[in-house]
Amino acid sequence: MSKVVVFDHPLIQHKLTLIRDQETSSKEFRELVEEIAVLMVYEMTRELPTEEIDIQTPVAPTKGRVISGKKLGFVPLLRAGLGMVNGLIKLIPTAKVGHIGLYRDEKSYQPVHYYAKMPVDMEQREIIVIDPMLATGGSACTSVQLLKDLDVKRIRFMCLIAAQEGIDRLREEHPDVDIFTAAIDKQLNEQKFIVPGLGDAGDRMFGTD
Ligand code: PRP
Repeated sequence: MSKVVVFDHPLIQHKLTLIRDQETSSKEFRELVEEIAVLMVYEMTRELPTEEIDIQTPVAPTKGRVISGKKLGFVPLLRAGLGMVNGLIKLIPTAKVGHIGLYRDEKSYQPVHYYAKMPVDMEQREIIVIDPMLATGGSACTSVQLLKDLDVKRIRFMCLIAAQEGIDRLREEHPDVDIFTAAIDKQLNEQKFIVPGLGDAGDRMFGTD
């Protein structure tokens, strides 16, 4: 079974509280989402393998450690996942970015897939799918399946707030995909919004409704 990691770092929790607050403006919301993404990817990359290389400082030869192993790729789910990308590539500038366009139909709550564009070497990379919200899990499951159909082997899912229902569904359909989140909220309302959540992340980020 996949693991579920909740980041309880004080900075992440502080910033998460600010973005939950309905008084937070779109500008602040965008800035905070990017900052949380930086902190989360810092925590997530703790386990990356490193290798020793020889280098020469201005004073003497020495050895240093650099990241080794598979390269990373990020796949934000449009629209709201876009708000996290800059934070991630600030820390890992060599990562490539694919995009998946999905929106959740307002009546059926099913994900509707409308766009996908991936780097050519996607299947050779370890992929982190990013979306601020994991609600029913429909969008996450659809995007993970799409990546598996492209022969991607290692996929992780990163979000800011997850509902237990979405976690359960993603783990059931894709038990090989670890989930990283800043919070687990207990329930969904009748409109399948996470409660208490933060509202519609895409709308709050881009000032739409
Ligand atoms: C939201 C959110 C996720 C999805 C989560 O996107 O950003 O992508 O819903 O719901 P699920 O787990 O039930 O599938 P939305 O449909 O609002 O699209 P947007 O990002 O373009 O606003």
